[in-house]
Amino acid sequence: VHWQPTDITRDHHAAMKNQTPRVLWFTGLSGSGKSTIANEVEKKLALMNRHTFLLDGDNVRHGLNKDLGFTESDRIENIRRIGEVAKLMTDAGLIVLTAFISPFRADRQLVRDMIDAGEFVEIHVDTPLEVAEARDVKGLYKKARAGKLKNFTGIDSPYEPPEDPEIRVNTVEMTPEEAADYIIGRILPLK
Ligand code: PPS
Repeated sequence: VHWQPTDITRDHHAAMKNQTPRVLWFTGLSGSGKSTIANEVEKKLALMNRHTFLLDGDNVRHGLNKDLGFTESDRIENIRRIGEVAKLMTDAGLIVLTAFISPFRADRQLVRDMIDAGEFVEIHVDTPLEVAEARDVKGLYKKARAGKLKNFTGIDSPYEPPEDPEIRVNTVEMTPEEAADYIIGRILPLK
């Protein structure tokens, strides 16, 4: 297979959108607030006339990755595919937001290495397990504790927190809106 160059390059795409492409990679436990905060950030970026796309765990698992479950190898493949999609979207000039648990450091590093230097922004939605479990919005922690759901992150499947993320948000002290404002402040300027 040979790489086919295109006349309209990623730089053209970015210039037409008047922005520097980015991947805002949200990582955190189930129920940590990744999707909620990513959604808030995307709304704020839309108001700033930025061109964005939000890839969300639950949604992507209904389509592109519906063949994948939650074993270690399936999670690795899940994140690899999302990384490739995010890369294509940055080639199209977009600011991509991703909201996946992405529990393994090595996989997040793999995606970081795929993306151009400085364009990958790792955002740790740093909600302690006790807090996510107490919220239990989807009732999944209860099922996992009862042994009805296997390989659940934080219970019987590991989560490796980022050691040096570009951004860390504490959802105990901040509302989703405050967290979104903080993130936007940290990624400006976007041109
Ligand atoms: S991963 O680890 O990055 O591949 O997971 P992701 O694609 O983000 O999918 C997480 C959502 O799937 C639901 N779910 C589970 N999560 C963790 N462990 C197990 N076993 C599991 N089974 C189903 C859950 O709703 C997750 O959504 P969020 O938004 O993270 O709570």
